[in-house]
Amino acid sequence: MPTVEWDEAAGGVRLIDQTQLPLAEVYLTCRTASEVAKAIREMVVRGAPAIGAAAGYGAALAARAGVLEAGAAELRAARPTARDLFAAVDRVEGAFHRGGAEEALAEAESMARESAEECRRIGAHGAALVPEAARIVTICNTGSLATVDYGTALGVVRTAHEAGKRPFVYVMETRPRAQGARLTTWELRRLGIPHKLIADSAAGLLLQRGLADLALAGADRVCANGDVVNKVGTYPLALLCREHRVPFYVAAPSSTRDPGTPTGADVKIEERAAGEVTNFAPPGTQVWNPAFDVTPAALVTALITERGVLQEAGAWRA
Ligand code: MRU
Repeated sequence: MPTVEWDEAAGGVRLIDQTQLPLAEVYLTCRTASEVAKAIREMVVRGAPAIGAAAGYGAALAARAGVLEAGAAELRAARPTARDLFAAVDRVEGAFHRGGAEEALAEAESMARESAEECRRIGAHGAALVPEAARIVTICNTGSLATVDYGTALGVVRTAHEAGKRPFVYVMETRPRAQGARLTTWELRRLGIPHKLIADSAAGLLLQRGLADLALAGADRVCANGDVVNKVGTYPLALLCREHRVPFYVAAPSSTRDPGTPTGADVKIEERAAGEVTNFAPPGTQVWNPAFDVTPAALVTALITERGVLQEAGAWRA
C-alpha cells in the first residue's frame, strides 16, 4: 500500500498516519489543502519525498476548490526544510496555469508515480555499493513510509537484500521523534531484513569498534555546493564515519537538489516544539529543538540518485 495515494472515490489523498505507527495501522483521507498542510505539520506524513507527493495532491485539491493561491501558501508554510515540498507545489501550480484543475491533479499523480519509480532506480544504483553481508548504520526513516513507495536510503538496503546480499542494519533511534525506533524497525521487520536498534549516542562506539561497514542516510535538501540537510544527528554520524574511515552515503532523488540555495548555511532549519524533547526534564526546562542539521559536502562519500552515483561533492551542480 503506497504511503501517499489519490483516492478519487473519496475525493482526497489517502495517507497512513505515521504518528500512530508501530502501534496501529490507521489511514486517513485529506480532502482539502488545509487538511494536507495539517498532516504535514503534525508529521502524519513525513520524509521529504512523501511530503512532496502529499503537498502535490494538496495543491491539486486547492486548485479543484478554486483556492490554489491560499492553499499553496498554506502548504509551503507547513514545514520549511524539505525541498520536495516546494518543488511539488511549484509543479502543480505550473500545471494549473497551463491546463486548469484537472491538469493540476494529473501533475500531482505523475509526480507520485515518478517518485516511486525513482526510488527503485536509487535502490538499484545504491545496492551496487553494498558489499556482501554488509553491516549498515542508518538514521531516521528513509523507507517506504518516507516516500510514495520503496524508499531512498532504506530502498538501497531493500534492493541489496532482494539481491541476496544479506545486509544487516543498525537503526539509530533518531531522537526526539523516534522515526528510526518506530518506523524503520517496523519496515525492516516486515521486509525480513535483520537489524538492531541502537540509541543515537551509541553510534560512536559502534563505529569505533568496527561494527559498521557503511552508513546510509537520506536528505531533505541538497544545496548547490553538495551540502546535505537531513535529520538532526546526521552530521555527527558523518563526522564519526570520517574519523573511522567508513563510507557515508546519501541517497536522494534529484527533486531534493536545490540549485537555488548555495550552501547549508543558507537553509532554514525547522525548529519544533519543546514538548518533543522534554520527556525526562523538569517542567519549564527551556529547549532548542532543531529538526535537521547540515552535513558538509566534503563528508559525503557519494550521493546516490535515480540517475546514478555521484562521487564528487559538487556533482549536483552538473
Ligand atoms: O522530520 P522527518 O521525519 O520528515 O525527517 C525525515 C528525514 O530526515 C529523512 O531522512 C529525509 O526526509 C529523507 S526521506 C527519504
